[in-house]
Amino acid sequence: MSYEKSKLVLNQAVADLSAMSALIHQIHWYMRGEDFLHLHPQMDEYRDAIEGQLDEISERLITLGGAPWSTLTEFSENSKIKLESGLYGVATTKRFEELVLALRYLSDLYKEGISTADGEDDYVTSDIFHAGLAWLEKTIWMLQAELGKEPEIA
Ligand SMILES: [Fe+2]
Repeated sequence: MSYEKSKLVLNQAVADLSAMSALIHQIHWYMRGEDFLHLHPQMDEYRDAIEGQLDEISERLITLGGAPWSTLTEFSENSKIKLESGLYGVATTKRFEELVLALRYLSDLYKEGISTADGEDDYVTSDIFHAGLAWLEKTIWMLQAELGKEPEIA
């Protein structure tokens, strides 16, 4: 079993998690007003979690004999999460809506990862995507709660 389809989804996640990390860093840096002292460090917590997933997924890809994208150009060219230049003065609620959209995109990718990995009997990759999906959905719930909205997961 060569797990070729699993490897494609894993590398897609490598590019997207790298872009996600940059997006969260940008929100962390450009944040002003609206509960800054609480929300600024919260972004560090989210980025640590995303970086943890990135490392785990990259190393799973290597374990399967794959080669993770590893340059900024590769991340940018392959990620579906596109970043704009940072701007001060954008409401944190607007940034969080953007973050939720990116988290929902990643959730869909992880679901695709689960079905793809299951289809190739790649249970370890499936397990990694399951655990990551649980974190993504919980984080969507929390950000939606901060925005005064329902989770809208299901
Ligand atoms: Fe910082």
